[in-house]
Amino acid sequence: TVPLVIDTDTAQDDCIALLAGLLDPAADLRAITMVAGNVDFTQQVRNAFLTLNVAGRLGEIPIHLGCTRPMVRPWESAENVHGDGVGGLTMDMTGCDPNPEHAVDALIRLAAENPGELNVVAIGPLTNIATAALKDPIFARNVRTLHVMGGSNNARGNITAAAEFNFYVDPEAAQAVFAAGFTITVIPWAPLTLNQAVFPQEALDEIAALATPLSGFFTRVCAATLEFDRSVGINGTTHPDSLAVATLLHPDLITSSAPYHVDVETAGTLTRGYAAMSWGVHGLTPNATVVEEIDAEGFYDYIKTLLATPTTPP
Ligand code: BDR
Ligand code: CA
Repeated sequence: TVPLVIDTDTAQDDCIALLAGLLDPAADLRAITMVAGNVDFTQQVRNAFLTLNVAGRLGEIPIHLGCTRPMVRPWESAENVHGDGVGGLTMDMTGCDPNPEHAVDALIRLAAENPGELNVVAIGPLTNIATAALKDPIFARNVRTLHVMGGSNNARGNITAAAEFNFYVDPEAAQAVFAAGFTITVIPWAPLTLNQAVFPQEALDEIAALATPLSGFFTRVCAATLEFDRSVGINGTTHPDSLAVATLLHPDLITSSAPYHVDVETAGTLTRGYAAMSWGVHGLTPNATVVEEIDAEGFYDYIKTLLATPTTPP
């Protein structure tokens, strides 16, 4: 099994990414760490507990609270895209207590316990990861591999023309992470997610027809984003975060990737959070592997199989 921590701003596809970490037999999920991003922080924590609950794993995986705002800038949300991130689902939160250890300390400790073994999948802004790298200079070396969902490989952003949300919200953190010496795999928003990780209506119907607690959860948590995505011309729901977990657990889903030097714009006005992905002709040493193509059908089958898992939420 693959030991991992998922660092998340839990809403919509973050929930599905957590399900992969919680239910894929290939995964050994050690902790969930929370970072400010998509929606209100307290709501994100609720969303993570709701996801543990629907997976039937409440009380088994610790949730650590991390940075509640970006390193330098005020927090900006994506509530216009995600609503509350779970389609209005609620549950009795009695006994749903986060672990008292801060997410940054948990990341550092878990990586140091088994140097070179722990994998981290970062599917929100990179504030916790950058802070851990600042606090512990050997954190980056202790982590086996860091899968980052963020940036675009052709400047096609989703929050601005130039920037993808996770890098836009905390560009200083993203820049620091790419300079910190991690072994990084990047799962970009464009063109990868937009071309290959969108589930059209037909796929959503197949998922709904599974009629499991997880498929119902999927349909509900993805509804707001589906509406938003359709309003901007995307033909279905987008799944970058679950792709980041899936490609860690099943690298054969990656059919094409290449070394790049990645840096993130912090000074620009129009280009705040822009990911400068240099493909080898500019004399820069590669610091990341960028995923360029995946087995899209294999990824969809993976999610469908995951959602077919019978669970008995307590
Ligand atoms: C990223 O931002 C959020 O909306 C998603 O959860 C994903 O991590 C895509 O830009
Ligand atoms: Ca996310």
